[in-house]
Amino acid sequence: MKSFHLILRRHLSSQSWMQRHVRDTFVKQSRYQNYRSRAAFKLIEMNKQYQLLKPGMIVIECGAAPGSWTQVIVECLKLKPPECHKTGAVIALDKADFATIPGAICLPKTDFTSHISQARILSALNDRKTDLILSDMSPNVTGQHDYDHERILQLVYSTVRFASISLKDQGNFLTKIFNGNQTEKLIEDLNLIFQKVQKIKPEASRMDSTELYILATGFKGRG
Ligand SMILES: C[S@@+](CC[C@H](N)C(=O)[O-])C[C@H]1O[C@@H](n2cnc3c(N)ncnc32)[C@H](O)[C@@H]1O
Repeated sequence: MKSFHLILRRHLSSQSWMQRHVRDTFVKQSRYQNYRSRAAFKLIEMNKQYQLLKPGMIVIECGAAPGSWTQVIVECLKLKPPECHKTGAVIALDKADFATIPGAICLPKTDFTSHISQARILSALNDRKTDLILSDMSPNVTGQHDYDHERILQLVYSTVRFASISLKDQGNFLTKIFNGNQTEKLIEDLNLIFQKVQKIKPEASRMDSTELYILATGFKGRG
């Protein structure tokens, strides 16, 4: 009899776990349907915590495909009708092709590391400086951790160099990295040109992934 109760209790509790799981999955999916990928939730979470995106800002977003971060940026900058904020803009680029997003200036098939691409972005900016540079760029991962870490750092340093010529004084910079033995060196380098540098692991980022974000705020400027 005792064991029957035990079995029944286990069965009921596993049923309620299953119901919860199914409900959560539906909630996630229904939200997810508005965005092109789940990656949107990482930016939504970081923006909620650090208030990175505001109407009127000029934002450059590197590694934008398939476009869910761009969707979030367009919403936060109020770049779509009926609001259509006049002064703000987002330039979203990716080396892959992706469908454009209304309200954003999209540059698909644009390799950020090429000088020609960076010149195109600067010309699209038309001498205006940037408030925020975001990079969710990621190389194709091989699973060889040190190698993947090395390759994402090449993308990160390319963005840092670009940031140092295109950011406004006090501008901000957010980049994805795969955590590794050069992370602290990157933070040291960023500390030379930004007032504050911090590591962020959004809840929406898988716990078993080495993915991290580095947020550098308060660009010290070129002088
Ligand atoms: C994780 S995905 C970005 C997801 C995006 N944030 C979203 O919300 O939809 C990483 C992207 O980085 C892009 N990427 C990698 N190297 C790049 C480069 N050199 N220039 C531009 N984009 C690059 C990849 O093509 C890929 O689309």
